[in-house]
Amino acid sequence: MATPSLLAEWFRDAPPKAPAMRNESVFYRNLEEQLDTRRSERANMVLRRNEPAPKSKDFSTLDFLGLTHSGLLRQPFLDELAAHPDFKLGAGGSRVLNGNNPYIEEAEREIAEFHKGDTALLFHSGFEANVAILLAIPRPGDAIVYDELVHASMHEGMQGSVAPCKRSFKHNDVDDFRDVLVSVKESEPLIRAGQRSVLIAVESMYSMDGDVSPLRELVQVAREVFPDGNAQFFVDEAHTTGVFGYQGRGYVDELGLCDDIAIRMHTYGKALACTGATVIAKASVRETLINYARGFIYSTAPSFPMVAAIKAGYNLMKSGKTEHLQVRIQHLVKHFFKTIQENEVWDEANDEGILSIPNMDDWESRPFVTQVAPVMTRQRYTVYLCWHLQLAGFNCFPIDYPVVPRGLNRLRVVFHAHNTEEEVEGLAAALCEWAREMLDIEESGAKGRLPAAARQVIATQQAEQQQAKRVEGTNGASKPVSNGVNGTNGLVVVAA
Ligand SMILES: Cc1ncc(COP(=O)(O)O)c(C=O)c1O
Repeated sequence: MATPSLLAEWFRDAPPKAPAMRNESVFYRNLEEQLDTRRSERANMVLRRNEPAPKSKDFSTLDFLGLTHSGLLRQPFLDELAAHPDFKLGAGGSRVLNGNNPYIEEAEREIAEFHKGDTALLFHSGFEANVAILLAIPRPGDAIVYDELVHASMHEGMQGSVAPCKRSFKHNDVDDFRDVLVSVKESEPLIRAGQRSVLIAVESMYSMDGDVSPLRELVQVAREVFPDGNAQFFVDEAHTTGVFGYQGRGYVDELGLCDDIAIRMHTYGKALACTGATVIAKASVRETLINYARGFIYSTAPSFPMVAAIKAGYNLMKSGKTEHLQVRIQHLVKHFFKTIQENEVWDEANDEGILSIPNMDDWESRPFVTQVAPVMTRQRYTVYLCWHLQLAGFNCFPIDYPVVPRGLNRLRVVFHAHNTEEEVEGLAAALCEWAREMLDIEESGAKGRLPAAARQVIATQQAEQQQAKRVEGTNGASKPVSNGVNGTNGLVVVAA
């Protein structure tokens, strides 16, 4: 469980370093100057000391099915190793040279079959796979149309893409999507003539907002605007692999759209508790990636343990042993929504803008919920809310710029199959307890009064600062301690 001192450390302001480096090599000074910009914006990424956190209730990790937490994957993984006692640890080179082997190919065949696709191609990570797809697949004269909130890895790929036309549409906005497709058709004669293509890049579930793509509607619009089929979809299933679809086949399977999506990208670092990713597509896409995706060509093939872990994950899904975990996530999220809605503080907190969960609207009428709930409050309060929950034993973090747009920071709550009903009820109660405290503070008119958890953390930061000053003697210049009103005090959680 987090303590005020741990939180004080995690959320400490980072002082600038470059000014004290006047006599050092410009090589390092320039790096520090760049980092100082991040530090001054409280947007610097830090690697946190995480050890005490496991005692907290997990509402933060991406271990959605709890396979890491429960160790459920360990035995299938060990079985896979035992079935290949002579395995070679390393691959020995790139797959286009000497790193390919029957074990990887067999895994890919099984993965393709599981996802009802023609072929599969393994990558070291989802990031690599996304970059590869967007670098290698769109050809000169093609266009890329993408949801404005797609993952950083897609932007990375698009930056290097030879496609001259790249246009975003408003997040999950089907009308805007149509307008953008029509504008591409109007401005690109070769695409209009059906001689070049449009690749449409979306995510199945957007993990900062917890909402799913209106994929069925998007597919329909693309068919209407480009009836010749020269607009094709690329869906990133990073957050839905293992969690949605029959036995975890993903969101596209959930919607029955496997035959309508040209490229699906599944990752294994989240629900499947492994690492790596697979691209599911027709042979033409696979062969293009093998020939043109530089990250695939100029990189050593996946090692045996990596592929064995992925295979074990698929064996587990195929055995049906993860199905009840998918169901459990649905149950827990709905239980949370119901519990928090029934809390006497909820409506007032919602009306006053102290607490809201945008993807909770109409949850009862939806066929499914997602495992991510973005909790919004006043921007300057997000860090206070985080501290309150952390001190109450609930591990979740604020997400701030640059991961989400400025002014849209939020606390991201992630639900898992290993959470209990009591934990979920406790979380709802802790959120509402904090909301009551903030409502009381605002109603009292006591400007600048901080909630209890924030007082504890800031007092600890100040005490540490005093201590540091004493140690440094008269040279210990005092740095102001932030009360977090402008950001999340230097803690940026990466959008994994
Ligand atoms: C939507 C999305 N795509 C791709 C990735 C990258 O996947 P990986 O962690 O396997 O690199 C992530 C985060 O990790 C993600 O959230």
